[in-house]
Amino acid sequence: MINIIGAGLAGLSAAMELAEREIPCRLISLQPSERAQSVLAEGGINAALDTMNEHDSPAEHFNDTMRGGCFLADPNAVYGLTSSAPDIVRRLLSLGVPFGLNDKGIVLRNFGGQKKKRTAYSKSSTGKILMTALIDTVRRYESAGLVKRLPHHELIKLRIEKGVCQGAVLRDCYSGECQSLSGQVILALGGLNGLFPGRTTGTTQNTADAAAELFSQGVHFCDLEMLQYHPTTIPIPGKRCLITEAARGEGGRLWISRNGEKWYFMEEKYPELGNLMPRDVVAREMFFVRRQEDTQGEVMLDMTGLSDEIWAKRLSDLRDNIIAHTGLDPKRSPIEVHEGIHYFMGGIAVDEQHRTNISGLYAAGECCGQYHGANRLGGNSMLGAVYGGGVAARTAAEEYAPSDDTAFPAEAGELSAEARPEFNEQLAAILAEGLGIVRSGRKLEEALKKLGELEAVCLREENRSRLGLAMLRSAIARRESRGAHYREDFPETDESFRKMTLARCEGNDADISFQVIPERRTADAASDRN
Ligand code: FUM
Repeated sequence: MINIIGAGLAGLSAAMELAEREIPCRLISLQPSERAQSVLAEGGINAALDTMNEHDSPAEHFNDTMRGGCFLADPNAVYGLTSSAPDIVRRLLSLGVPFGLNDKGIVLRNFGGQKKKRTAYSKSSTGKILMTALIDTVRRYESAGLVKRLPHHELIKLRIEKGVCQGAVLRDCYSGECQSLSGQVILALGGLNGLFPGRTTGTTQNTADAAAELFSQGVHFCDLEMLQYHPTTIPIPGKRCLITEAARGEGGRLWISRNGEKWYFMEEKYPELGNLMPRDVVAREMFFVRRQEDTQGEVMLDMTGLSDEIWAKRLSDLRDNIIAHTGLDPKRSPIEVHEGIHYFMGGIAVDEQHRTNISGLYAAGECCGQYHGANRLGGNSMLGAVYGGGVAARTAAEEYAPSDDTAFPAEAGELSAEARPEFNEQLAAILAEGLGIVRSGRKLEEALKKLGELEAVCLREENRSRLGLAMLRSAIARRESRGAHYREDFPETDESFRKMTLARCEGNDADISFQVIPERRTADAASDRN
């Protein structure tokens, strides 16, 4: 049996792929699928379906994704992603996802960093709707005996023997009992939100403990310095609430008061894409305009010009959400927005087939890096999760070696003690200070020093510190500005850094090296031209 850890979009997609090949799997997760991070995704999923009379193509989607990611993504992986996108979205439609339809097919909307309408959506709850369809599909495989669900189970550690992943140790979150399972492992853990409690739009349930343990166990991570700040978030208890980019895709505008007048700074500075510039650019501009001497107050998102039809048909749930959290009706009043951590472009390092550095171990979805480079385009995350889950499962299936299905009792050992909330908060404050929207060698070194002084009293705390250290060291090593990584001491992009940072655990430290990005295969490039 193959073990999938994580039951969001990437995990469900992997389970479907395995089940279709009649390979049994366990779908293991801390939370049931209905509470996975993917449920929170709002705006949509990208595919160059060309249904809006704009002559779009997968080649343009490829180019936008590579440009948006500042050429740090693996071009061969991105080629697979963008050329498979139309079939993936059509398949989702066939599974019952209620995308809007026109006489040419699925209706698409504008999203950031892309000149053409390419984002398929279900109002502004696309993640929830996609998840419902995949959960339902996987339930059929479950009843056929091909998928065994283990919700409320935590990955304690991997069983790695002689450099090969032989299985995993899990803990039942209700009974506290641990079991050791055999088989290959596909990681679909989601992002590192738990390292930044209260500061991300991601689920507060995603502790990052598993990723931190994996790092300590020798799994390699890449591009850990690449944190995406979403430009439009609002504070809510315990986390940040996303105000979907679709708000701007449908016509919402950003302004700040300058000398008493509304200044539409994005439209003035970037006439072509305006409010829909890639997220790294918008977030940075917001950061800087607030600090100008001639501006006053906060950046406002103004949706008062949107038509009744757009509100009713495309953004009704967003409006409800904003009213519930702010008491303001965005149809009538602009709302104050701030940048908030939204996505981790980096993560577990994988090859194009989603293999990690450990044989028998694969990773997909937000927990791994490769499709998004230095900045992810909105709408590419759900695509990356569905596509990547399928690729990881295909590779695992091709390398499948049936294993003993017996579960043996095991111990959590030193990992039974949880990290203290006050430790997590101190760690988050240190990391957020070093890894803000604008960074510098000085701020990063200061953060490193404070991290060195932070006392860890249990293994989980040590693991978290070590992964945080790897993030800081990756940001220190990248002495340039690229995408989400902006350093005021190195404000230019430097071609010699068009490489991926690779982080490896070295005792209590993290070793950072740079890895060359693969060249694009000529056969793929040629097929685009034909
Ligand atoms: O703004 C959004 O709806 C986010 C979408 C995404 O991150 O892909």
